[in-house]
Amino acid sequence: MYGDLSGKVVIVTGGSMGIGKAIARRFAEEGSRVIDLSIGRHDDASYTHMDCDVTKTDDLKASLKAVYDQYGSINVLVNNAGIESYGSIEKMSEEEWRRIIEVNLFGYYNTSRIAIPYMLKSENPSIVNISSVQASVITKNASAYVTSKHAIIGFTKSIALDYAPDLRCNAVCPATIDTPLVRKAAELEVGNNENDIKRKMLEWGSQHPMKRIGQPSEVASAVAFLASKEASFITGTCLYVDGGLSIRAPISTPE
Ligand SMILES: NC(=O)c1ccc[n+]([C@@H]2O[C@H](COP(=O)([O-])OP(=O)(O)OC[C@H]3O[C@@H](n4cnc5c(N)ncnc54)[C@H](O)[C@@H]3O)[C@@H](O)[C@H]2O)c1
Repeated sequence: MYGDLSGKVVIVTGGSMGIGKAIARRFAEEGSRVIDLSIGRHDDASYTHMDCDVTKTDDLKASLKAVYDQYGSINVLVNNAGIESYGSIEKMSEEEWRRIIEVNLFGYYNTSRIAIPYMLKSENPSIVNISSVQASVITKNASAYVTSKHAIIGFTKSIALDYAPDLRCNAVCPATIDTPLVRKAAELEVGNNENDIKRKMLEWGSQHPMKRIGQPSEVASAVAFLASKEASFITGTCLYVDGGLSIRAPISTPE
């Protein structure tokens, strides 16, 4: 637990499920006042939900103004809302490619630029952007997603530099995490039989040096750390929460 997060106003985009939900819960446990901005259904009473599409500027302006007017500060922003779909650049439609970039990249920019003026009037402001291990090692047929996750690293560094020393900005890069997004990916590969989905996720887990996929709460721990005063000299960096996935070269060596 990080004592300084108690009472802080924390915005989490895409906090209705998956990683965002675990992040929102973690900040709520820390005693923060948490607002989820997402388009999904929300079923957790420990934090507040506002229906908001991060690609819609008017929605975002109204939501963030309402939060600031009600709470008087915005201390932490976690850009997390994201989508993924699959196909080579020839197979994926132009609309789909644009949609992924719009949510995963423009959405982070849009939320940040509207939140930052409020954050600069608040104590110890900090942004945490959820990127991915796919900013480093990548899977096939995911060019829009991979591009967005690489770009988030540059975006994170830009905010860190442009707003230092007044505001910190860091990224978290998770590998495979047990969320609806990953279950959907498993389903696309093996169909909707629950046992087949479980087997697929175990197989993905076995490819991580830690021999399992991660839990959303393990990403939330990293986010809480980066937002806390314990990380007061850390800005512009990315923290990998990937069970070692990004460090292993697929080359054998003698014992
Ligand atoms: N699950 C993983 O293995 C994994 C790994 C690395 C990175 N990530 C990243 O973590 C983030 C969360 O992923 P997840 O697995 O929890 O996904 P998820 O599909 O389980 O949840 C996504 C959330 O984003 C919200 N959302 C989607 N589009 C939105 C929009 N236009 N406006 C507002 N909210 C919107 C949804 O309502 C939902 O709350 C994403 O950025 C994803 O790329 C996930």
